[in-house]
Amino acid sequence: MTGVTIIGTGRYAPGKPVTNDDLARVMDTSDAWIHPRTGIRQRHYAAEGETASDLGAKAAERAIEAAGIDRAEIDAIVCATMTADYKFPGSGGLVGAKLGIQGVPAFDLSAQCASIPFCLQMANGLIATGAARTILLVAADAHAGFMPWTDWDVVYGERDDVVSEEARAQATRHRGLAVIFGDGAGAMILRRAEVEGHGFLGAQLHTDGDFAEDIALLGGGFRSRPFLTHEMIDQELYVPRMAGRSLFKHAVTKLPRVVRELCARHECAVEDVDWMLAHQANDRINNAVREALKLPPEKVPSNIARYGNTSSATIAILLDELIRDGSIQRGQLLCLFALGAGLHWGAALLRY
Ligand code: COA
Repeated sequence: MTGVTIIGTGRYAPGKPVTNDDLARVMDTSDAWIHPRTGIRQRHYAAEGETASDLGAKAAERAIEAAGIDRAEIDAIVCATMTADYKFPGSGGLVGAKLGIQGVPAFDLSAQCASIPFCLQMANGLIATGAARTILLVAADAHAGFMPWTDWDVVYGERDDVVSEEARAQATRHRGLAVIFGDGAGAMILRRAEVEGHGFLGAQLHTDGDFAEDIALLGGGFRSRPFLTHEMIDQELYVPRMAGRSLFKHAVTKLPRVVRELCARHECAVEDVDWMLAHQANDRINNAVREALKLPPEKVPSNIARYGNTSSATIAILLDELIRDGSIQRGQLLCLFALGAGLHWGAALLRY
């Protein structure tokens, strides 16, 4: 029995790009600090009122078109986001409604930046058990709502004013986190592979809740009664807290290990993988993983310079770019791997 394969992909990034110099208008930062440490040059942000499900629906439209299917053929949605439109319900049903495919079951998955390998495992299970035939996998994140500034017109260069000292100090307090995230969405249409040996081969997935607060949104959670308080706003807990150095260490140790474990389980050498599609959190993390796995740079492509970290969407956006420009060819072996809040981490192996 074959696993799921990708029959169409799409991506969407909202608005015009915001450069590192643009961010320096509202906080103490610079391209000279951001780029060498992360690889990021620019990112996009959802507009006021534009949500993860809006971005996801746009990416999905493109994936449906690329797959050449009628959207009525989609019989399940697997949706990943950590910035859902509402605290509840999840955004998968909203994506379905925006596409006009109401009634299709939506599975909302919250594995943050590690979502793609988790979603592929879930989609493969749905198809293997006969619960679905054609799945829309949509991964979208709209982080603009937790950015630590309100002067968006200054960020976009639409107003020349210098922001208040207080506003600048507030944004600067969160600069390590704020500069790395950007908004975007990626989507895939999945069906059972027709050719033996093609499609999803397997995934190696891990979660360790001991590190949940390495990166977490501490405000607005049900540990508190009521779950949202004025104090949370005063303490700026609507901006996630991130232990950057700890995450960096988790990523550079756990990701090479999980890729090696997965390849060993499937009796393939790491160097036999044609494309290592890594979550785009930081170029320095991915370079360290690449060196640990002794792989040439061309096998581990990067687009973080243009998007920043779009959380659940990074790998889906990268995949769409490489499929559309003809780099990824049918029959090639792909390894998609990621680590994110949870802590979740994992890798999936797929013959495209
Ligand atoms: N601009 C300028 N200076 C900044 C800055 C910014 N955007 N962000 C932090 N700094 C400053 C800090 O204030 C600190 O100054 P100090 O030494 O005077 O106190 C200094 O730079 C070092 O800060 P630190 O947070 O220790 O930086 P770092 O070297 O760990 O780099 C990250 C920060 C976020 C780039 C890095 O930790 C990282 O990428 N971690 C992984 C994060 C990740 O993957 N997150 C997503 C998980 S999916």
